[in-house]
Amino acid sequence: MPPTPRTKIGLVGCGAISPAYFKGLKPYAFLEVAACADLDLERAKTRATEFGISRACTVEELFATPDLEIVVNLTIPSAHASVALKAISEGKSVISEKPLALNREEGLRVLEAAKKKGVRVGCAPDTFLGAGIQTSRKLLDDGWIGAPVGATAFMLCAGHERWHPSPEFYYQRGGGPLFDMGPYYLTSLINLLGPVARVAAFAKKTHPTRVIASEPKRGQVISVEVPTHASASLEFRNGVIGTLIMSFDVWAHTLPCIEIYGTEGSLSLPDPNGFGGVIRLRRKENKDWGEIPHAFPERSRGAGPADMAKALQSGRPHRASGELAFHVLDVMCAIHESAEAERAIDVRSTCDRPAPLPLDLVAEEMDA
Ligand SMILES: NC(=O)c1ccc[n+]([C@@H]2O[C@H](COP(=O)([O-])OP(=O)(O)OC[C@H]3O[C@@H](n4cnc5c(N)ncnc54)[C@H](O)[C@@H]3O)[C@@H](O)[C@H]2O)c1
Repeated sequence: MPPTPRTKIGLVGCGAISPAYFKGLKPYAFLEVAACADLDLERAKTRATEFGISRACTVEELFATPDLEIVVNLTIPSAHASVALKAISEGKSVISEKPLALNREEGLRVLEAAKKKGVRVGCAPDTFLGAGIQTSRKLLDDGWIGAPVGATAFMLCAGHERWHPSPEFYYQRGGGPLFDMGPYYLTSLINLLGPVARVAAFAKKTHPTRVIASEPKRGQVISVEVPTHASASLEFRNGVIGTLIMSFDVWAHTLPCIEIYGTEGSLSLPDPNGFGGVIRLRRKENKDWGEIPHAFPERSRGAGPADMAKALQSGRPHRASGELAFHVLDVMCAIHESAEAERAIDVRSTCDRPAPLPLDLVAEEMDA
């Protein structure tokens, strides 16, 4: 049998997160990162050398390359939609870093353009394809905690200006703790519980400016455009009530990442900004929490684009889909709107829960 052709991927945006993708995509034999590009061509060249990519080029040259089927968009949030739209206009499927776009209008434009062109849209995070969240999904779907009643999701830290070399975008539109970290938590919750129907929230901008504490911009002042502490109640369509806090204003806390409470017990999930982590279960008859071993292989960043490549080859839906990311975006917009309007906001969009991964897959494979 002739070997299956490898899906060619072009990566746009060669900044801080790109090494995780270059490394993470390497093990999948059914795809190839054939080119990388950045506004800063030197940066693309450096990454290409570092990770053995055969071609570094300008963004325009990458889009004009006929045999690239997928663009992995690792630019900053304000460029996600424009880069995605350009890729789509060149007939390429695109999978962007989160968030899908800065607002619903931009997000819809991306989804509609892809539909018209017959290409696919995907979006980070892909961490829900890791062992931690997939095993948790299996436990939930198999009824280990009974019917889910409530959920909590907490991400509180003191802000990314302490470590990121160019942290400005974290305080501009498309950033803040909700748009930056919220997608990990909301995508995981929606993967577990289904779509959100309504939100009620409070949010605040604690400091009007932030000071960069990392090199090379140490001491520079960033003005803050977005809320940096948000607390929301989420009503899921299945009746589950969720509590979410996302903050860049907290120095220390003892809250869990995600917990799901059911009629028969409780499930404590690992950090959804990772692919593995400890899962703990306590059923009503248990005196203490028990650790649950992973039922899936641990993966890494790149799982989402790999799943899209395999899905394009076989024709099945991909899991980190544009519809899922749009729903997450819609929920995040609704949280900010609810806080501003001081009332609950209905979430109009919906999405299907992505299909769970099969149990028997190795980490270098995706199902056909
Ligand atoms: N840094 C992390 O740890 C991390 C983790 C997970 C997700 N992300 C997400 O990944 C994305 C990128 O983050 P980063 O930390 O790598 O940022 P970064 O600022 O380090 O890198 C972004 C790169 O994109 C390039 N770029 C910007 N606009 C462009 C455009 N229009 N066309 C082509 N290239 C363009 C920049 O020149 C830069 O090299 C963000 O959406 C971020 O939320 C980052």
